[in-house]
Amino acid sequence: MDRRGRSLQTAEETSLSLRVPGGVSTIVVERGALASAGARLAREWPGERRVFVVADERVSELHGAAFDGALRAAGLEPCRKAVPAGEGSKSLTVAAELYDWLAGQRAERGEPVLAFGGGVVGDLAGFVAATYLRGVPLAQAPTTLLAMVDSSVGGKTGINLPAGKNLVGAFYQPGLVLVDPGLLHTLPEGGLRSGWADVIKYGLLERSVPGLAGAELLPLLEGEGRALRALQEPLCSRVVRRCIAIKRAVVEQDERETGLRRILNLGHTVGHALEATAGYGRYTHGEAVALGLRAAARLAARRGPSDISLQGRIDALLDDFGLPARIEGCAVDDLLRRIGSDKKVRQGRVHWVLPEAPGQVGIYDDVPGDEVRAVLEELGAA
Ligand code: GLY
Repeated sequence: MDRRGRSLQTAEETSLSLRVPGGVSTIVVERGALASAGARLAREWPGERRVFVVADERVSELHGAAFDGALRAAGLEPCRKAVPAGEGSKSLTVAAELYDWLAGQRAERGEPVLAFGGGVVGDLAGFVAATYLRGVPLAQAPTTLLAMVDSSVGGKTGINLPAGKNLVGAFYQPGLVLVDPGLLHTLPEGGLRSGWADVIKYGLLERSVPGLAGAELLPLLEGEGRALRALQEPLCSRVVRRCIAIKRAVVEQDERETGLRRILNLGHTVGHALEATAGYGRYTHGEAVALGLRAAARLAARRGPSDISLQGRIDALLDDFGLPARIEGCAVDDLLRRIGSDKKVRQGRVHWVLPEAPGQVGIYDDVPGDEVRAVLEELGAA
C-alpha cells in the first residue's frame, strides 16, 4: 500500500490514477484500449467534439484510419496531423508547424491534443499542448514500448535544441494516457528491442522507491526474457503495468524532479551524451540508455557501491535483450564534454545514478572524471 492506502500491486489493475500538484492522470493499460479511446476521451472532456491528433507518419499510416474510426464511433471529430518519424521532429520548427496547424483550425482552449506515437511525438505534442493558448488538455496514446512504460507518463514534455536534448520543455500532466500493449506486435524488431532498455532500468531501481510494495520486475526480466521478447500475454501487460506503477510512485513523490525522480535518469547521463555526440538517430534512445546502464554498472563496481557480480548481472540482462555492448563512433572527449553540459548538472557536479544492489540505486556527485573516462574507453569510446 502507498501513503494514500492504495494498492501498488497493479499486475491486474487496468486503470490507475497519478495525482500530483500539476494535475491528475488517468492511465489505462489494457489490450484493445485504443478501441475505447473515443468513449474515454468523451468522458474525460465532456462537451468537446474535436480531438487534435498528432501522430508520426508511420503510426498515422498504420493505425490512423482505425483510430479515427474509434473516435468517430463516440461522436468525436478527429483532426489528424502527421509529423516525420524520428528525433528530428522534436524541434522548434516542427513545434511551430503544429502551432500554425492548431491556429489554422481555430483550436479552442478546452479541446484536447492527443499524442499518438512514440516518445518523440509524446514529448513534442505534449510541449505544444502545454504552451498553445497557455495550455490545452493533453492525452497520450503511446505506441512504442519506451513511450508506454516511461515517456507518456509523468508529464515531461519537450523539444531539443542543437545544444542538447530536451533543453526546452515543460512539466505538463496528460489528463488521460491510453496504453494498448497489443500495439507492440506492430513495432519493428529494432524499435521493440530498444524499449526493453527502459524496462530494465525500472527493474534496476524498483527497490529504491519508498512505499512501493514488492520487487518483482528484475526477477521477471531475468527469468522470463524469452517469453517477454515474444510479447506473451498476460506477462507482457503485467510488466508494462509494473513499470507504470513504479513511475507513478516516483512521480507522485517528486513531480518536478527535485529529488527522488532523479533516479529515473539511471543510464541517461551517458545515454543522452551518446545520442547528442553520435547525432540524434545514430543510436536509438534505448540503445544509448543500454550503454549508459553498462557505464553506470561499471562506475559502481569501480568505486564501491556495488561490485563486479552486479555488473555481470546487468550486462547479462542487456545481452539477453539484444542491447548493444560497445560504444562506436564516439570520441571520449566529446562524450565527457556532453556529460558536463547535461541539464542535470548542479553547481558543476554531475549527479550519477548508480546501481548499489539488485533493484536498488543511489545518487552520487563525487564520481571522478578519470573514472568516467576509463569506463567510456572500456566500452569502446575512442
Ligand atoms: N523519463 C524520466 C522521467 O520521466 O523522469
